[in-house]
Amino acid sequence: MARKKISLIGGGQIGGVMTQLLAEKQLGDVVLLDILEGMPQGKALDIAHATPVASTDTRIVGSNDWKDTAGSDLYIVTSGLPRKPGMSRDDLLAANIKIIRDVATNIREQSPNSIIIVVANPLDAMVWATKELTGFRRERVVGMAGVLDASRFRFFVAESLGVSVQDVTTMVLGGHGDSMVPLPRYSNVSGIPLTDLMDSGTLEEIVKRVRGAGTEIVALLKTGSAFVSPAYGSVEMAEAILLDQKRVLPCAAYLDGEYGISGIYMGVPVLLGAGGVEKIFELDLEPDERALLDKSVEHVQRLIADIKL
Ligand code: LAC
Repeated sequence: MARKKISLIGGGQIGGVMTQLLAEKQLGDVVLLDILEGMPQGKALDIAHATPVASTDTRIVGSNDWKDTAGSDLYIVTSGLPRKPGMSRDDLLAANIKIIRDVATNIREQSPNSIIIVVANPLDAMVWATKELTGFRRERVVGMAGVLDASRFRFFVAESLGVSVQDVTTMVLGGHGDSMVPLPRYSNVSGIPLTDLMDSGTLEEIVKRVRGAGTEIVALLKTGSAFVSPAYGSVEMAEAILLDQKRVLPCAAYLDGEYGISGIYMGVPVLLGAGGVEKIFELDLEPDERALLDKSVEHVQRLIADIKL
């Protein structure tokens, strides 16, 4: 069987960690692309030099030339500016939309049959723009945010209850911004509802911390945003697609009537397999949960309304 080809667009912090993770998992050969000359080549070479010790035969190439990505099965797009302290994800819109235009055009040209995972912020707007600009079907363009937000939620719950992170399942809906909607009612510890294990005050504190987790890290790092956890989240999605795992994960998907919403991307539980987003699951929401989701939808709609493609 021919090896899969995975192109990582953006050789920054997330791109570097993803290259390493993909190499270890041997999911396919990796092209790390960036506009900076030498940087992706240097990172690729550094990781390639570790492959004998890491016992992996993954081939890793650093490049500044889009042609090297031709025929890719999967793209993961992280290119764009990260946040600085005091910035919201939305403040990145103008700068990153210019970059995504170029990225989308090149992907369409080099690999018209590929699947794209978008990670750049503001996430819901960037993934929407990628779908519009490539003209790809909605199944083949998906955004990474829910896996990260749900993972943060899992971590905080596990830490608070003193249980293994592995036994905590959580759900987060909505846009990847301050209005995201962590759903305690759809979260549990080995099947035991979270709402039976925690008092509402503690749960509320955790929900607040999940919403602000990205910002908390930006404030601490001062030089950029989180990159290890977003890399893990993206690689989990890549694995689901490349190995046709049929995982059920919260991802930013294009809605066409689901949840009564059309024409935007937003975090919802999806079935992720070789076809990309193979199914969207609709959850029954209580009125208060629905109200929070509506607020998040409005936020994403406002963001998209500002984009001139
Ligand atoms: C975060 C950024 C990557 O949530 O959006 O950390």
